[in-house]
Amino acid sequence: MEKFIVTGRNKINGSIDISGSKNSVLPILAATLLIPDTCVINNVPKLSDVYTMIELLKYYGAEVEFNDSIKINCSNIENKAPSDKVKDIRASFLLVGALLGRFGKVSMFMPGGCNIGQRPVDLHLKGFGVLGANQSIEGGIIDISAKYLNGGEVYLDFPSVGATENIILAAVMAKGRTVISNCATEPEIIDMADFLIKAGAKISGAGSDTIVVEGVDCLKGVEHKVIPDRIEAGTFMLAVAGTGGKCRINNVISEHIKPIILKLREMEVDVEESENSVIVSSEGNIVNTDIKTMPYPGFPTDMQAQFTALMAKGIGTGVVNETVFENRFMHIGELKKMGANITVEGRTAVVRGVEALAGAEVEATDLRAGAALIISALAAEGTTEIGHIHYIDRGYEMIEKKLKSVGCDIKRVRSEE
Ligand code: EPZ
Repeated sequence: MEKFIVTGRNKINGSIDISGSKNSVLPILAATLLIPDTCVINNVPKLSDVYTMIELLKYYGAEVEFNDSIKINCSNIENKAPSDKVKDIRASFLLVGALLGRFGKVSMFMPGGCNIGQRPVDLHLKGFGVLGANQSIEGGIIDISAKYLNGGEVYLDFPSVGATENIILAAVMAKGRTVISNCATEPEIIDMADFLIKAGAKISGAGSDTIVVEGVDCLKGVEHKVIPDRIEAGTFMLAVAGTGGKCRINNVISEHIKPIILKLREMEVDVEESENSVIVSSEGNIVNTDIKTMPYPGFPTDMQAQFTALMAKGIGTGVVNETVFENRFMHIGELKKMGANITVEGRTAVVRGVEALAGAEVEATDLRAGAALIISALAAEGTTEIGHIHYIDRGYEMIEKKLKSVGCDIKRVRSEE
């Protein structure tokens, strides 16, 4: 196992380049299963989740090269019994929609919950049912099949990102029209739709709450550049806000990080927007505010842990309301080890800012909780050891290298355990 050793209070100055979006490249990789041709995907972050997804695509017979870009050909893929490897990442369930769309049938392990919540897939299955697929679950494996996939009208009771993506994947080559109402509007949905449209799919409304897919017979190989990772960008912005300094964050799309920019300004942090970057300036003493996570374009749940960590050393009290996942406060126990004063009641956390946080031995419990601990460690007095950093490597490319380049004292070491 590895851990990060972080010594806090170094001001952050310089510039950081943001990598491609994890939550965009994963559904796009799943979408390549629909395309019996060569695709090239650019701006791909080197993350453990990406390598895991590539291994899964290779299991089904995809030919994949991953250097600076991913070159992938799914001409000779075949349907197979589910691989245990799907249990390594939840995004593997996106393979279901793609394999169903390609072969008309698929067997897959039902995904389990994870640290942040139960993560059900009932809305995914509701969508496949509307398209005419029969489903049976036995021994933790779901078998889905359809003689023909026919378009239909799907209403999502919650604007689920994964369900929206999975239903699009199953619908792009179904017969006729599919309408997905109350769908997710995240930028990563638009990016996957843009990729598929380039390949010949007929999709309209991506980014709105209603997406229409007209089935086509086949798709062709394309080249595509993945959008920047808005959550990575937000994470570094908060690191500057909490520690102090002045840092340009490059390769961002301002619109995608608008809630983060506006919330930081509410907290009296200076954020300057330019063409494809933002400049964050701070003395490191932010004023706490309230946060309520919502589906896009609301405040992103994937930034909640990081904001909670930032407010732990803020001025005043902030109330954090996590409406999207039922168990996304795992970072709070670790923040308390550093002296944070936070009380949790259900899905609400009350953060009473303290003068200073103190370095401690803490553990990442999930991806964004790990990022939150880096933010608090960089702002804390003394040294913090962060264990289980494999969670962080799932979603942040070379995070310690990027932070070191702007003056942070952070190193990756092997831990005894
Ligand atoms: C995606 O997960 C992201 N992952 C998550 O990012 C992100 O937190 C989440 O969307 C919300 O924005 C990827 O894109 C790979 P959901 P997903 O389906 O698709 C409920 C990160 O840190 N729900 O929108 O699994 C569910 O329980 C990760 O990068 C159902 O009830 O999220 C949850 O409460 C974490 N039934 C809510 O919807 C369903 O069938 C949001 O889930 C599906 C979801």
